[in-house]
Amino acid sequence: MLPLVRNSKSGRIVMLSSGLGSITWNADPKWPFAAVKPLGYNGSKAILNMMTVQLAWELRDTPIKVNTVNPGYTATDMNANSGTQTVEEGAAETVRQALAPDDAPTGGFFQTGGMVPW
Ligand SMILES: NC(=O)c1ccc[n+]([C@@H]2O[C@H](COP(=O)([O-])OP(=O)(O)OC[C@H]3O[C@@H](n4cnc5c(N)ncnc54)[C@H](OP(=O)(O)O)[C@@H]3O)[C@@H](O)[C@H]2O)c1
Repeated sequence: MLPLVRNSKSGRIVMLSSGLGSITWNADPKWPFAAVKPLGYNGSKAILNMMTVQLAWELRDTPIKVNTVNPGYTATDMNANSGTQTVEEGAAETVRQALAPDDAPTGGFFQTGGMVPW
């Protein structure tokens, strides 16, 4: 898709990651989701986070921003609607990143209200 994104004056790539992809949080036994450790899921999100950093580096001399987002625990089909946030709340940071201004950061891990530790 990169050739298409490059055609935009303000290309934005937003990865749908998860707090479960944070190695820092996974390593913290006091983190509320510390017991949630499916290796395939958490590992795939950690790789997605690495891809975010590497793609942001590759595109550092372009206007394109590449960021990754933790939507938070959101009621969707994926968790049989057990999530504690609405879809609107879960989508908010992704939408914010998709509309980020030209002076916004690139290569970061975000959630509503702030950054997520890698
Ligand atoms: N919900 C949460 O609490 C939560 C928390 C953290 C991160 N996330 C992440 O947020 C993202 C969205 O999750 P969600 O909760 O919205 O899940 P969801 O309700 O299960 O929706 C997943 C979406 O992905 C589409 N999809 C699945 N496989 C696909 C494929 N091979 N090609 C194209 N589309 C495909 C599905 O399409 P169909 O409907 O057509 O099958 C569906 O629209 C995921 O990356 C998830 O890991 C979710």
